[in-house]
Amino acid sequence: MCGIVGVVGHKNARDILMQGLEKLEYRGYDSAGIFVTSAQQGVQETGQLIKSVGRIADLREKIGIDVAGTAGIGHTRWATHGKPAAHNAHPHTSSDGRFVLVHNGVIENYLALKQDYLSADHFDGETDTEVAVHLIAALAEQEGLDTLEAFKKALTLIEGSYAFALMDRTRPDVIYVAKNKSPLLIGLGDGYHMVCSDAMAMIRETSEFMEIHDHELVILTKDTVEIHDLAGNIVSRESYTAELDLSDIGKGTYPFYMLKEIDEQPAVMRKLSQVYADENGQVTVDQGIIEALVNADRIYIIAAGTSYHAGYASKYLLEELTEKPVELGIASEWGYNMPRLSDKPFFIFLSQSGETADSRQVLVKVNALGLPSLTVTNVPGSTLSREASFTMLLHAGPEIAVASTKAYTAQIATLAFLAKAVGTAIQNDKAQAFDIVHELSIVAQTIETTLSEKAWIENKITGLLATTRNAFYIGRGQDYYVSMEASLKLKEISYIQCEGFAAGELKHGTIALIEDQTPVIALISNNPKVAAHTRGNVSEVVARGASVVTIVERAAAIDGDDIIVNTVHPYLSSIAMVVPTQLIAYYASLHRGLDVDKPRNLAKSVTVE
Ligand code: M6R
Repeated sequence: MCGIVGVVGHKNARDILMQGLEKLEYRGYDSAGIFVTSAQQGVQETGQLIKSVGRIADLREKIGIDVAGTAGIGHTRWATHGKPAAHNAHPHTSSDGRFVLVHNGVIENYLALKQDYLSADHFDGETDTEVAVHLIAALAEQEGLDTLEAFKKALTLIEGSYAFALMDRTRPDVIYVAKNKSPLLIGLGDGYHMVCSDAMAMIRETSEFMEIHDHELVILTKDTVEIHDLAGNIVSRESYTAELDLSDIGKGTYPFYMLKEIDEQPAVMRKLSQVYADENGQVTVDQGIIEALVNADRIYIIAAGTSYHAGYASKYLLEELTEKPVELGIASEWGYNMPRLSDKPFFIFLSQSGETADSRQVLVKVNALGLPSLTVTNVPGSTLSREASFTMLLHAGPEIAVASTKAYTAQIATLAFLAKAVGTAIQNDKAQAFDIVHELSIVAQTIETTLSEKAWIENKITGLLATTRNAFYIGRGQDYYVSMEASLKLKEISYIQCEGFAAGELKHGTIALIEDQTPVIALISNNPKVAAHTRGNVSEVVARGASVVTIVERAAAIDGDDIIVNTVHPYLSSIAMVVPTQLIAYYASLHRGLDVDKPRNLAKSVTVE
């Protein structure tokens, strides 16, 4: 939610900011802006501030070649307070124009701050950020504080989440930075320094980064990085080198990132086998994680959206192999409504980004209770990774499309390695017999076969989903869990109202919604216990006029089925079965003429609660 970029000491600050914002656009894309100035100590510069509603491309159109400088800050917004509009876009300025601020997060007490400190001020928009920059100016002016002290004092008054980058037009050679709960990190260049919400946006300029922790304040100049805690102590911190590759973050010849990321899934499955197994096929999960899980009496998986669905898709496998009950928690619910826990709980936080604020609020509580936890994430060094007891990485490569695809399948595969490792440690027969490396290689081949049938899948659903306002996915057992994910994917990028339903539950009410030509997509994996029942439910909706498409594992297929998926091990069927549904969502969105990668109202990384 919202992307921040800043640079000081670079001869082409404008381009650095714009390139950074383009890479951060996945975090929010309803408005954007940059402030550019010249970073010369002692020289007061007015600088240039340009803002625009809409995408980064709209902002780019407003930026002429006269916009130049060596320092600046930029922002791409996902609206929380105040509608998307140029006057609500960041950077925001103080009344006298001296201070310029970009912000990601939510200032919970902004109305109280406005009333208590700024009642005489005029505000251009409705954002909490504008209140913050006015507050800094008021503290500087009324209390005679320098910028650092005014910023520090403002931080002690502000409640909520924030990543801030602040500039003072009287000191254009400095960027002041602070964070609490929202992601932000420093990039170290040769003769310049950067600040950004995500390393990806700085990777062209540097691969050397430095973390910022919550409640720290950083003073950035072209040659120095000074980290302070709020008590004023200087904090020393080592930098680290990120392993990101520029080619990972490009689209190549693909029209959309989502299609590229769907196509990358076989490679991700193979990569996970390399990472989590040795050359003899022995699983190599961290012994500390295995021991912590062996000692637990229940596994709690906390996640949101697609990651939550991946948790469900992994529940059966985890329960079978670890012999422990697995309970799922919606992160945004568990933050304030934690149910009674077992005696020896073990928490798994599933999160592609590792930054989801809803999940983090649960992790904070879990840590306060002193309970062990594992973050399974795609982003090394992310907040959830840093704050959990253990981390397992997804190794999926950057996922840039808002609609998550390869992270979902990587989450299930990674948890399969975990289940296998724990099951082997407790000598569970099924775990010992489960040749995960071999089975995952079959999954990779199956996905490749499905991907080779894109045109067939596109053709099957184009008419069905071209104009419909609603649709259903149905399935039982594992297929029900995949239905949940399939329907989320379809609705978030095609705007078709879609429900993922337990097939047997339809007749208890929802079947009333089925009418002539209602699209129903039925998932039938190779589970003889449920396949026949799902087929019965298909007949029921057909009898009421539904237009049905079936997605069926080959071993369970019958004449007339529509999309056939090669059969894989039942523990991994969700990975294979979800791929056609990802393609269905992609083509539905494409044929409706929508922006597949950046659906309306959404952002990739949801860093507000
Ligand atoms: O980064 P996370 O996995 O924690 O994100 C959770 C959800 O916000 C995310 O999966 C969301 O549902 C995706 N847009 C789904 O495609």
